[in-house]
Amino acid sequence: MNAESFDAIVLGAGAAGMMCAATAGARGKRVLLADHADEPGKKILISGGGRCNFTNIHTAADRYLSGNPHFAKSALGRYTPQDFLGLVERYGIAWHEKTLGQLFCDGSARQIVDMLVEECAQAGVTIELGRAATEIEHRDGLFMVSIGGRDYTAPALVLATGGPSIPKLGATGFAYDIARRFGLSVVHPRPALVPFTLGGDEALFRSLSGVSAEVEVCWQKVRFREAALFTHRGLSGPAMLQISSYWQHRTPIGVNFLPDAGPDWLIRQKQAQPRSTLKRALAARLPARLADALAERLALEGDLGNIADKALRAAEARLTDWSFTPSGTEGFAKAEVTAGGISVDGLSSRTMMAARVPGLYAIGEAVDVTGWLGGYNFQWAWASGRAAGEAI
Ligand code: FDA
Repeated sequence: MNAESFDAIVLGAGAAGMMCAATAGARGKRVLLADHADEPGKKILISGGGRCNFTNIHTAADRYLSGNPHFAKSALGRYTPQDFLGLVERYGIAWHEKTLGQLFCDGSARQIVDMLVEECAQAGVTIELGRAATEIEHRDGLFMVSIGGRDYTAPALVLATGGPSIPKLGATGFAYDIARRFGLSVVHPRPALVPFTLGGDEALFRSLSGVSAEVEVCWQKVRFREAALFTHRGLSGPAMLQISSYWQHRTPIGVNFLPDAGPDWLIRQKQAQPRSTLKRALAARLPARLADALAERLALEGDLGNIADKALRAAEARLTDWSFTPSGTEGFAKAEVTAGGISVDGLSSRTMMAARVPGLYAIGEAVDVTGWLGGYNFQWAWASGRAAGEAI
């Protein structure tokens, strides 16, 4: 056999794979980083509207969904947003906090990719692009991987090929196939941080396409206070993307269109402005088209002064907990991330190594750890990549 040997083969040159390869390489390990795409970090390049929301200063394990809510603590605690920010600053990349602790590049997401590629270069990482891994064998403690017709061996193999969200960017379920082949279990992957579609009666709201408003959205006990956006297919915007990660099919979500109004707001409006109408009162707080649509559905005609308190209370109860039952989501084609993935039950939270297959690691989005919107997913990619890179 004429295979080239390394200390570690990292499959997937995305956020997690580049961090892992650079970390292991800097520790003197000989690392091959391989990706079937023709350039590394394609998702980083399009992230954050081209400015990459590269971390969130409020990172904590409770902002992640996972089969084991404690799993992410160890890696997140050992490589923090401040650690990544330190790297960003060492490269002189200008950044700003946008909102809710979200840190973005002032310039371009390309700066983050260039930084990680440079870290890999300084660490002596060999990068192979544009060629897919085909065969993977494991014998006598060595992984043998065929990439574009060439064979490579290493005692460590890192699955960093992400999840299937946005397949047109080269995303695949490859990591799951390999994990299953090695006997690891995979939590059913589903689209997350994804817009909802509305059907039936609720499709009427599609006429509001383009309208957005600050709302509080809830699903069971989970709540998010952010902007919601009506689209021609349904509901999007940060609030809806956040709740979509928790939502289960055929269940309703509740939307509070008056998150700051306080109790008995309509009664107080009636007392203060008895000659106003419901539509006008709503338009003072909400975009006019949304105020019109909500008032029409509540069907309370005439001056507020002539509407019974009971009817106003009932209207306010609906406005603060408007129930939508999405017909579905826009699926993996539009999902920012994949929830589910390689089960954390079989992985070490310290090293990301599979307990039953020594030398096999899984990191980043491929693993059943999914962050909120707002830089949390990259922070998981950096932290899990770092944990594996330090353990190889
Ligand atoms: P990632 O998907 O980055 O990398 C996987 C790599 O594996 C890819 O390079 C792919 O080509 C490669 N690959 C796949 N299959 C392969 C195979 N069979 N063989 C070889 N290589 C293979 N998060 C955040 O925190 N802040 C943000 O601003 C955004 N913004 C954002 C916008 C959009 C439009 C999307 C789609 C996603 C985001 N995200 C985000 C999420 C974030 O991009 C995501 O969580 C990370 O990129 C995950 O990093 P990974 O390295 O795990 O996978």
